[in-house]
Amino acid sequence: MPMDYITFFLVLALSFVSICIHILVSNPIFRRSSTARLPPGPYAFPVIGNFLALGNKPHESLATLSKTYGPIMSLKLGSITTIVVSSPKIAKEVLQKHDLNISSRIIPDSVKVLDHSIVSIVWLPASNQWRKLRKICKEYLFSAQVLDSSQGLRRKKVRELVDYVHESCTSGQAVDIGRAAFTTSLNLLANTFFSIDLAHYQANSSQEFKDIVSTVMDLVGKTNVADYFPLLKLIDPQHFRRQMKFYFGKLLEIFEAIINQRLQSRASSSGLGNDVLGTLLNQSKDNDTEGFSINDLKHLLLDLFLAGTDTTSASVEWAMAELMKRPDAMAKARNELEEVIGRDGHRLVQESDIPTLPYLQAVVKESLRLHPVAPLLIPHKAEADVEICGYTVPKNAQVLVNVWAMGRDPNIWSNPNSFLPERFLEHETDFRGQDFELIPFGAGRRVCPGMALGSRMLHFMLASLLQSFDWKLEEGVKPEDIDMNDKTGLTMQKAMPLKAIAIKL
Ligand code: HEM
Repeated sequence: MPMDYITFFLVLALSFVSICIHILVSNPIFRRSSTARLPPGPYAFPVIGNFLALGNKPHESLATLSKTYGPIMSLKLGSITTIVVSSPKIAKEVLQKHDLNISSRIIPDSVKVLDHSIVSIVWLPASNQWRKLRKICKEYLFSAQVLDSSQGLRRKKVRELVDYVHESCTSGQAVDIGRAAFTTSLNLLANTFFSIDLAHYQANSSQEFKDIVSTVMDLVGKTNVADYFPLLKLIDPQHFRRQMKFYFGKLLEIFEAIINQRLQSRASSSGLGNDVLGTLLNQSKDNDTEGFSINDLKHLLLDLFLAGTDTTSASVEWAMAELMKRPDAMAKARNELEEVIGRDGHRLVQESDIPTLPYLQAVVKESLRLHPVAPLLIPHKAEADVEICGYTVPKNAQVLVNVWAMGRDPNIWSNPNSFLPERFLEHETDFRGQDFELIPFGAGRRVCPGMALGSRMLHFMLASLLQSFDWKLEEGVKPEDIDMNDKTGLTMQKAMPLKAIAIKL
């Protein structure tokens, strides 16, 4: 939701209109008093409402506002009533107690292109069709059994990441951690689903795919004024729809080619493909409206690759950045790996080792607490009026859960802005959606369906980077100089890429 310049000028123009209306029509209709049961919130201007209050980092602006208006507040963003929740207690009400009524989505105009939103697991309301997709994910993609059986493929891909870092060591080149983690995440997903690579460390192909994913995530995450002022949908003033059509089209083409290739090899019986794609193709029958069509499959893959690559690689980059800032914590994580598994040369860490590495797990939790890659989750929508804490969350309101604000709340966490993994050694707090003070994957029926795979990939990549190498910053850069600013699209990325030099152990 952050604003760029075009958005800013459009909003400025709308502000001008709004001020005129405000002067001409000083009408109680526009006042908050007409919606007395809404949670408290700042005064909403006519037409633009509180749009300007969002700024470039909505999670931070909303966290600041919630200090004045409380853990449940209401804003008006253009025509959309928005409820913002900033405490674990109220997040639990929204995501657990009332999740039946608050599990729908506000659909951004741009994701309606190529009929994506009507088949998308991310944008469908919590309907039967959505439940069918979630069930497919749960049973055929992310069950412990499926993930265990594809462990070997992921081990091979993480080994390639380690080899790539070894090569960078030899040539003395700094590693762009986010970029390397992205290439790995992409290949981990591609191998888990269809046993092939989609990217190589040196080639441009991974950068091209990354660029498409980053652009799409940026487009979905940025403020499209047409979403808040519906009349503007007619003209698509920022060309979001046009751009999205182009990028979605490119991704769908890639998946179509992979599916066609597999169908051909199945037809010639040269390979039945006993992997996730094989299983999904068995489920799908084209033009079968009750079932799961090839078109559904293409759009599901589009969603999974968009939701699964950027999020995982950004989380690896944030964790590494925090560890580079605290070399003693990095040393602790490495010592733990050495004690439990042994150094490179003994054997490499595996996914199955993760439960035996409590400090590594604490590092991941602490990093997700400070840097949840979806700081406001994906916006939910109320399907009916819901009473929460004596206030009404009205039907069709957008509901944002400010996970970022909860992660930095001094009433919940001591030294909330410091990276202290040790805090999680003393507490049982987990991130899987039961402990509402730490919900980087969301909670309730919309909880991230890829959490099991995302969590495995994140721990495994981080452990492998730490086990085989020591890390130092580029010449002249000190740990305290690492820029920890974020830039927010739909996912919260590091604004300045982390570059670090690996040293062989
Ligand atoms: C560190 C990694 C990840 C994080 C932090 C993360 C976080 C999230 C969050 C916060 C949501 C929104 C929950 C809500 O709306 O309440 C979400 C949704 C989703 N995630 Fe993840 N995710 C990660 C990795 C993955 C992976 C690896 C996949 C699949 C390969 C995936 C697929 C999805 C999908 C499809 C949705 C939409 C679900 C729906 O709307 O029903 N995610 N994720």
